[in-house]
Amino acid sequence: MDKFLIKGGKRLEGKVTISGAKNAALPAMAAALLTREPVVLTNVPRVRDIGTMRTLLEELGVDSSLQHKDGGYRLEILARKLDHPLAPYELVKQMRASVLVLGPLLARSGNARVSLPGGCAIGARPINLHLKGLERLGAKVQIEHGYVEARTEGLKGDSFTFDIISVTGTENMMMAAALAEGETRLQNAAQEPEVEDLAQLLIAMGARIEGAGTGEIRIQGVSRLGGATHAIIPDRIEAGTFLAAAAITGGDLTVENAEPAHLGAVRAKVEEVGVRVEILSTASGKETGRALRVFAPDLLRAADLATREYPGFPTDMQAQYMAVATQAEGTSVITETIFENRFLHALELMRMGADIKLDGRRAVVRGKARLSGAKVLASDLRASASLVLAGLAADGETLIDRVYHIDRGYDRIEEKLNRVGADIRRISES
Ligand code: EPU
Repeated sequence: MDKFLIKGGKRLEGKVTISGAKNAALPAMAAALLTREPVVLTNVPRVRDIGTMRTLLEELGVDSSLQHKDGGYRLEILARKLDHPLAPYELVKQMRASVLVLGPLLARSGNARVSLPGGCAIGARPINLHLKGLERLGAKVQIEHGYVEARTEGLKGDSFTFDIISVTGTENMMMAAALAEGETRLQNAAQEPEVEDLAQLLIAMGARIEGAGTGEIRIQGVSRLGGATHAIIPDRIEAGTFLAAAAITGGDLTVENAEPAHLGAVRAKVEEVGVRVEILSTASGKETGRALRVFAPDLLRAADLATREYPGFPTDMQAQYMAVATQAEGTSVITETIFENRFLHALELMRMGADIKLDGRRAVVRGKARLSGAKVLASDLRASASLVLAGLAADGETLIDRVYHIDRGYDRIEEKLNRVGADIRRISES
């Protein structure tokens, strides 16, 4: 398992390019199951979860081909037939987003067997709302031997209100409803840019969807969908992580191929801690995004934070913000409202010298603490990013174990950081 050895104390300066969004690419890959025609995705990030989703598509009997293009992947998916609508436990346990194939499989082939994802490092993460929603569209759903067994003679549109806002729940329902008969109304739907991006792809495939990106989505079912070519949106969490990297190192970074419109709450928070953010009006020739320049002050100010669904501050940036808060002058109260157990990084940050008190879903961070390099363990994707940030700010060497977590969702983060002045060595142990 690979490790990162980070020599801290380097100020970051220069340009980084943001990759496509993992959490937009994964549902887009699942959407390709809805048609017999080729779906071509560009700006797909080179991260491990994309490989896992490709393996899952292969299991389902789907062909895909991958090419390197402009620093990302161009991925062509051809689901001419779905011989084997089964998502096995071995893959679902590696990546919960595998559950995104449930809605498309059901809508296209009338039956699906998808392993129930188990618990997760950050919370229980049930999929009850995905199942309830699909039942509302007429699916018969049973849990047998750890698998969701769903079947239908033909889905029928209906209204469905999510009790809790769910990103992949909204995506699964939108994909299933695209091929259902009649109209589906999704209320209390997730408004994340990734949901809107999926809707753009589905519309390009021939779906009739209105309201994606708002709390109410209306889908008029169609009898078939066709192929399409679609560029994945920039990864707002990767961009936010680089904003945090500039903040924590007192740096000056230009973040290219980002979408500033998706970064509102993150930008507001880093500005509140004293970082200056400028949106650059000229892009560097990339068609998918624009650039931001971030300049950090010598001393950051503490600021409280609560995670919320989009357009609020993303839970996927909470761990990185906590690393930044350890370096801010004053007390920051961080409240995690989305997941019940997303503070594992705090325990590792404390081993590096951070002053953090945990109280249920609240973390009280007192700064500025002197961080010193230590051996730490990455527990999940965003927690690993938080430890990398802390390592950049720490005195001496930080050794992060289990960086496969970070490889699941960041496209070679160490190379991107090293190009702007960091000193991170990947130690591969096979
Ligand atoms: N929930 C339920 N029942 C459901 C679905 C969700 O109770 O049927 C609860 C969850 O337990 C959680 C809350 O609702 O407390 C929100 O979960 P959501 O369903 O929105 O999360 P998700 O769709 O499983 C996606 C991202 C996550 C991100 C969350 C929240 C993808 C592939 N994953 O997960 O990304 O944290 O939304 O924004 O889009 C990551 O990239 O590191 C990551 C974990």
